[in-house]
Amino acid sequence: MKIHKEVTLKKVTIEELEQLQSISQTTFLQAFEADNDPGDMKAYVEEAFSLAQLKKELEHPESRFFFALHKNQVIGYLKVNWGAAQTEHPLEHAMELQRIYVLADFHGHKIGQLLMDKTLEIAREEKMASIWLGVWEENIKAVRFYKKNGFEVFGTHQFLLGEDLQTDLVMKLDLQGFFIRQLKAEDAEAFQNLKLSGLKEAPFAFSDSYEDEKNKSQSFFLEEFSQFIGHPERFVLGAFDLEEQLKGYVIFKRDQRSNARHKSMIHNMYVHTDLRTKGAGRALLNAVMDRGSRMAGLEQIHLWVLHSDQSASGFYKKMGFISQGPLVKKDQKIQGRYVDAEYMVYFFSASFIDQSAQYP
Ligand SMILES: CC(C)(COP(=O)(O)OP(=O)(O)OC[C@H]1O[C@@H](n2cnc3c(N)ncnc32)[C@H](O)[C@@H]1OP(=O)(O)O)[C@@H](O)C(=O)NCCC(=O)NCCS
Repeated sequence: MKIHKEVTLKKVTIEELEQLQSISQTTFLQAFEADNDPGDMKAYVEEAFSLAQLKKELEHPESRFFFALHKNQVIGYLKVNWGAAQTEHPLEHAMELQRIYVLADFHGHKIGQLLMDKTLEIAREEKMASIWLGVWEENIKAVRFYKKNGFEVFGTHQFLLGEDLQTDLVMKLDLQGFFIRQLKAEDAEAFQNLKLSGLKEAPFAFSDSYEDEKNKSQSFFLEEFSQFIGHPERFVLGAFDLEEQLKGYVIFKRDQRSNARHKSMIHNMYVHTDLRTKGAGRALLNAVMDRGSRMAGLEQIHLWVLHSDQSASGFYKKMGFISQGPLVKKDQKIQGRYVDAEYMVYFFSASFIDQSAQYP
C-alpha cells in the first residue's frame, strides 16, 4: 500500500512537546548536517529546539504545529505562523510556513505533499491571502518542491546558523483569494442563489434543472438544506472569496444504511466562473477527502458525472477518481439533447480497489 495513504495528520498538543523536540532535532540534523559546521549545528539545535523555546512557540495563539503520523510514529511535522508569531512580516494577510520536515527514511512517499496540502488548508481557514517561507538557497530539493507547489521567489534574507551567515530565498504563494468552510444555517440563501446560477450557467453538468430548482418553495428548499446542518456525516462545503461571498460548493453524504456505510456520495459540485481554474475545486475536494479519511470505516466516495462539451470528468480523474465502467448512454435529456453519464469512485486506500475489475 502507498505509505502516504496510511499517514494521518494531527495537531500537536502540549503533552507531545518531547516528541516535537525529537522530530524537530532529528529532521533538522538529517537535512543540514552534511553541509554545515558540526559546532554551528549543535549550537543552533540546542537553542532553537529547546523544550522551553518549543513550548513558547506551541502555546502561541497564532502558530500551529501538525504531526504526520505513520502507525503511531511521528514521521514529519509542519509549523505555520501568522500575525505576531511570524519571524518577519513581508506581506499583508500572509501566513508563514516556517517548518516542513519529513524523516529521511520517509522521503519520496508524498508525505511532504500531505503536509503542504494541510498548510494550504490552514491558510484558507484563517482567511490568508498568501503563504510565504524562507528556504536556504543551497537547499535545491526543497526549492524545487516549493516551486512545484506554485511558490515564487520574491526576495532574500540572511539567516545565522551558529556563526555562519547564510542566504535564504523568500518565496510566496498567492492563494487566489478564497477560503473553504462548511456551510451553516445562515448560508442557506447564498447557497440557493449559487446553486441556481450554477444550473443556469452549466445546465449540461447537472441532473437537476434550473426550472425545477427555481420553482421550489423557500420552505421546501430550507427543509432540504437543513439535513446538512449539524450532521457529522452530511455536509456542504463552500469556497468563499475574501469578501466572504459564496463562490463554490460541494455536497457530501455518507450512506447511512448498515450494508453501505463504507460508501459516501458527492451529489453536486460547482465553482462560479469568478473563481474557476484557481484551485477552488481542488481545495473543495481535498477538504472532503480529508474529512472522509477521518470517518471510521469509510472507504469510498462515489459520484455521477455528465459528459458534455466541458465535462468535469477530467477534473475528477485528476483528483484520483476512477471510472467504474462504460458510459451510461443517454442518461439525461437536457434541453432536448441526450447526455451520457459516467460513474466514478475515489478509494481512500489502494487496498479498497477491486483488483479483479477492469477499469478503463
Ligand atoms: C469542475 C469544477 C468544479 C472544477 O473547479 P475549478 O475550481 O475550476 O478546478 P481547479 O482550478 O481546482 O482545478 C484543479 C485541476 O483540475 C483541472 N480541471 C479543472 N476542470 C477540469 C475539466 N473540466 N477537465 C479536465 N481538467 C480540469 C485543472 O486544470 C487543474 O489542474 P492542474 O492542477 O493540473 O492545473 C468547475 O469547473 C465547475 O464548477 N464546472 C461546472 C460545473 C460542473 O461541471 N460540476 C461538476 C458536476 S458533477
